[in-house]
Amino acid sequence: MSTIPELIPVAPHLLTLADHERQAHLDLDANALAYFSGGAADEITLRANQESWGQLQLYPRVLRSVVGGHTRVSLLGRELAHPILLAPVAFQRMAHADGELATALAASMQGAGMVLSTQASMSLETIADAYLAQPQRGPLWFQLYLQHDRAFTQTLIRRAEDAGYEALVLTVDAPCSGARDRERRAGFSLPAGVSAVNLQGLSPFPARPLAAGQSALFDSLMTSAPTWDDIAWLQSVTRLPVLLKGILHEDDARLAQQAGVAGIIVSNHGGRTLDTVPATAAALPRIRAAVGPEFLVLADGGIRRGTDVLKAMALGANAILIGRPVVYGLRNAGAMGVAHILRLLRDELEIAMALSGCATLAEATPALIFPTRPVSR
Ligand code: FNR
Ligand code: LAC
Repeated sequence: MSTIPELIPVAPHLLTLADHERQAHLDLDANALAYFSGGAADEITLRANQESWGQLQLYPRVLRSVVGGHTRVSLLGRELAHPILLAPVAFQRMAHADGELATALAASMQGAGMVLSTQASMSLETIADAYLAQPQRGPLWFQLYLQHDRAFTQTLIRRAEDAGYEALVLTVDAPCSGARDRERRAGFSLPAGVSAVNLQGLSPFPARPLAAGQSALFDSLMTSAPTWDDIAWLQSVTRLPVLLKGILHEDDARLAQQAGVAGIIVSNHGGRTLDTVPATAAALPRIRAAVGPEFLVLADGGIRRGTDVLKAMALGANAILIGRPVVYGLRNAGAMGVAHILRLLRDELEIAMALSGCATLAEATPALIFPTRPVSR
């Protein structure tokens, strides 16, 4: 067996993504920890995401040559060094003073695609300038939350286009906040100096006067939540490809396909919105089956090991995203920590491929997952 190539030195006890998580948990203050680590309600989906990847079993093949193998994939017409992207995660300056800038530098140097959150704590132009300057960079996408003020939303889209973002990722699974009990217990609030700077100038949400018996959620907040009609609107106001993030149901995957979007991200928002929904690992194969082999499908949620990446690819993902591990790497060592997280996952992916007889990720098919159904004769 091979040894892991020389790793970026960060600290000798940080050898896995779980090590980074443990370290960050010791160092983050209670406020930030509740925000970054928490999920919705009883956190059943949060736990299920990670557990489900672990429970799937690889079904390796031996004595196959993997000489010349690689982790390259193609995505929206570009070839990437590997299939790992950074999921949009808000308010990264709460984890480290260098915030999204450090994340962007590490991601671009590691050839990892990056999706910047609408609620980033640094300007989208600053991040684009830093990210796009690296020749070995991956794709740079902007995650969009449709705002109640559609004119403001359009200005935000124009800014993202002008700054060089290459796709818009509309998040569709969080029209309102989940029941974030861990945050409420911690009394979470944004620290001074950390805010959603790209939303500066947005008018406050115009809360509607409620009649007796009306609900502040259904009759006020949710009146500005996006619907399928807005997908057509969004595509009409941007020249960028649009992806929908937060699809779990195969019928929604089909609707997205019919709406002509460029792709979808199978996700439950890292267990932060609706609790007790299926883990991504469970939803992904059904969605791949529904949309056919050609449609672009990405997945995120609980991916912590190279074997998890390989399993997601085997179940039909074209690429995957990681959320919390990036924050933990950032907290532990700034840009170096994020680069380390990416390098570890890439190295583990290569090992998993070599040991399961896959020279390329195209060879990672459902046959690589040990079948749970009984053997038929
Ligand atoms: C998120 N996520 C998220 N998603 C999104 O579309 N816009 C956002 O601003 C955020 N913000 C955010 C903050 C934090 C602290 C977390 C942990 C997550 C969800 C994120 O993009 C992704 O779907 C999950 O994080 C993936 O799960 P893992 O990798 O964290 O398990
Ligand atoms: C979250 C929002 C910002 O998950 O998407 O915290």
